[in-house]
Amino acid sequence: MSSPYEQRDNESVAEVVWHKGGVSKADRAALKSQRPCCLWLTGLSGSGKSTLANALEVALAAEGRHTYLLDGDNVRHGLNKDLGMSDEDRTENIRRVGELSKLMVDAGLIVISAFISPFRSDREAARALFEPGEFIEVYVSAPLETCEQRDPKGLYQKARQGLIKDFTGIDSPYEAPDAPEITVNTATDDLDACVRKVLALL
Ligand code: ADX
Repeated sequence: MSSPYEQRDNESVAEVVWHKGGVSKADRAALKSQRPCCLWLTGLSGSGKSTLANALEVALAAEGRHTYLLDGDNVRHGLNKDLGMSDEDRTENIRRVGELSKLMVDAGLIVISAFISPFRSDREAARALFEPGEFIEVYVSAPLETCEQRDPKGLYQKARQGLIKDFTGIDSPYEAPDAPEITVNTATDDLDACVRKVLALL
């Protein structure tokens, strides 16, 4: 069995030896009769990531798939509650959830990870943790104006008022993917169409 950490090579783990178990990722996947993967949803706040992620999980569960949904707002209440919204903290947020997603794929699950993940290099670092074909980048695209009009949590309004700083799209950058496996446009396509488009890829 290959180690889910095998690409790591730094001093802090140099003297920690990977403990090889008797049950492999393939064994776990076979028990679930599914191909584990990570559907990585990236896009602006208000682009519809959480809505799409939830609809995808409902659809997959209805097909008998064993899934898990990792959502930025939720993970930031627990595992990553020590992190803020500076560039450095966002990078660490994505590093941790990339590793977490990898462990869940190792567990045999179809993982849906919905994070703004604004930096291309962070998303590429997450992709590099996975085997070829396992990391499926879904660009949840919607114009900033649309996201700002939706403003489901009232955060854009607060950002415009200067009450929140480092807000993605306002005073913090969003780097759109160059070559995502799939792009869905939530401003022009309805939720069902977006779900079908993503599921067709699996
Ligand atoms: S990421 O940039 O590190 O990937 P993440 O997806 O975990 O972000 O969290 C984004 C969520 O945090 C948004 O959905 C929004 O509700 C909330 N949020 C709070 N402050 C900000 C901010 N400054 N920029 C963007 N989102 C913010």
